[in-house]
Amino acid sequence: MSTSSIDSLLHENRRFAPSPEFAAAAVAQPALYDDARADRHAFWADRARELHWHTPFTQTLDWSNAPFARWFADGTLNVAYNCLDRHVLAGNGDRVAFHWEGEPGDTRTLTYAELTREVKRAANMLAGLGIGQGDRVAIYLPVIPEAVIAMLAIARLGAIHSVIFGGFSAESIRARVEDADAKLVITADGGWRKGRVFPLKGAVDAGLAAAESSVEHVLVVRRGENEVEWTAGRDLWWHEQLEGVSDDHEAEAFEAENPLFILYTSGTTGKPKGILHTSGGYLTQVAFTHKNVFDLKPETDVYWCTADVGWITGHSYVVYGPLANGATQVLYEGTPDTPHPGRWWELIAKYGVTQFYTAPTAIRSCMKLGREIPQSFDLSSLRVLGSVGEPINPEAWVWYRDIIGGGTTPIVDTWWQTETGGIMISALPGITTTKPGSAQVPIPGISVDVLDDDGVHVGKEASGLLVITEPWPSMLRGIWGDPDRFVDTYWSKFAGAPKGPLYFAGDGAHLDGDGDVQLLGRVDDVMNVSGHRLSTMEIESALVSHPIVAEAAVVGASDDTTGQAVVAFVILRAKKAATVTATEASVMLRAHVAEQIGAIARPREIFVVAELPKTRSGKIMRRLLQDIAEGREIGDTTTLTDVNVVQSIRTDLG
Ligand code: WT7
Repeated sequence: MSTSSIDSLLHENRRFAPSPEFAAAAVAQPALYDDARADRHAFWADRARELHWHTPFTQTLDWSNAPFARWFADGTLNVAYNCLDRHVLAGNGDRVAFHWEGEPGDTRTLTYAELTREVKRAANMLAGLGIGQGDRVAIYLPVIPEAVIAMLAIARLGAIHSVIFGGFSAESIRARVEDADAKLVITADGGWRKGRVFPLKGAVDAGLAAAESSVEHVLVVRRGENEVEWTAGRDLWWHEQLEGVSDDHEAEAFEAENPLFILYTSGTTGKPKGILHTSGGYLTQVAFTHKNVFDLKPETDVYWCTADVGWITGHSYVVYGPLANGATQVLYEGTPDTPHPGRWWELIAKYGVTQFYTAPTAIRSCMKLGREIPQSFDLSSLRVLGSVGEPINPEAWVWYRDIIGGGTTPIVDTWWQTETGGIMISALPGITTTKPGSAQVPIPGISVDVLDDDGVHVGKEASGLLVITEPWPSMLRGIWGDPDRFVDTYWSKFAGAPKGPLYFAGDGAHLDGDGDVQLLGRVDDVMNVSGHRLSTMEIESALVSHPIVAEAAVVGASDDTTGQAVVAFVILRAKKAATVTATEASVMLRAHVAEQIGAIARPREIFVVAELPKTRSGKIMRRLLQDIAEGREIGDTTTLTDVNVVQSIRTDLG
């Protein structure tokens, strides 16, 4: 874990209290904290009752089989009904749900009535293809309205979606489709990115060709208009299948614990984990946090979260939270800098965006391009700015507030994970006096602590490991098909805790003098690159799967823009590598990793070395490699088996 964020925080001691006007009109009022403290369960039950239940629940939490939680278990609801029909029936059908903007500049506006109709048709179509409760459907789509429509149609049927980020490779698709035993894959011919169409269906074809799979059909949305291969009988065009399909579909009620989705995320081993989320508790927490953390006034606000729907942020804060709250959103297909570096700011001005939610890496990229770009657009509609995905350095925080937020807009730094489903630690914009670089306080109804390795609370002005001390409604319900890994990964580190099992988040944290929480980054072999989670071991496995590689070690080196960057050290197989230079090998291996996992995992640098530094017990000394990758002087190397190894690596670094 790095302490650089603490050091820089020392130079930024300003505090930012909400303005009296903002505080007075805010959705979240201080009584929320009192209510949650007085009775946590009653507090969450009240939040859950803000949803529409077909059958009201009488039990709030069943923790008798900890760490397998059941929330609101005897209630029934339909998640899609809560996100759609409910708003139409309340007379808000004409409200815009999405202002969608394609990268080439094409647009589509969908009101709640239109989105509801589209989802009903898609649900009928999917039911016609044999999809029903509990079936798994994989989605591999760009950020187009059909991605949201598909997710909601699957939810409406009580089926389970598994969205695969469009940047993942054929091999990643294979692994995910196989692990979840998906019956159907929904993809597109291609999508727009950086001014070009990138093909998607080809990756699905290649992934399925290699998979031992139960996939019956591949449903293809036409978006890129690019050529695609076609497997007759298996492949179907989305628009053709929708022809003549009725838009009459009654939402069936499912149990609160009916699975809603699986989302794969990297862990410390080579194999991604299928994080499982269910319905009632998940929707309760994402709706509550979305409304209160972003101060959502659905009648007048235009909210924009820049996340791709392929990540948890897209699931919780583009699809389920905002739609449950009847929000009007911007949805944008492309990259921030296409066709010009001010595209995001242009969209904020065009739609009058009031809440903007993005990642620190994006903010730092914009800082580098200079303040003139955002300052040439009218950003005065903004009233809340959010950050997520990695610790935000105080410099970026202050720049975000001053340049994007006009020096007045509150910033919410939101800490959470794929596993937590919803926001866990964050300021509330009308209440909290914010501190640059700190996520600060658990939201009402959430309890966290910072412990040392022995499970003892660290006290103020000390660092340790972040734990969540009480179950929460949107917590993961397990890892798909692997209950033991669920228990081992998250619940075994502090298993002997007197108050019951504690959830170990994998993050280091610092408690400041006020008892506020500052996140310090991962303490395990998980890297955070541009707010995306990558496993060192997964990339190492990808590297050693190449015939020229004998051994590989991967570290996350700090990077000014992306937070961390993937740096690999490889030993080549003498014979197989005889014909290539180190530079050629490095080019080849970077491409190989992109092919195996996806472009996001492609190492920034690969160093070809003769040996890797190991401890006497044979463990690779990653800390030392990290020092080298970050250009630091190497400290104590007495534990190395061979001091010369370090020399050879440094020579390779030039
Ligand atoms: C990991 C979870 C939550 C959606 C995006 C990432 C890091 C996330 C923050 C934050 C410091 C953060 C943590 C966490 N992280 N938000 N505000 N401050 N660190 O989801 O891929 O599941 O990654 O992202 O290290 O464990 P994810």
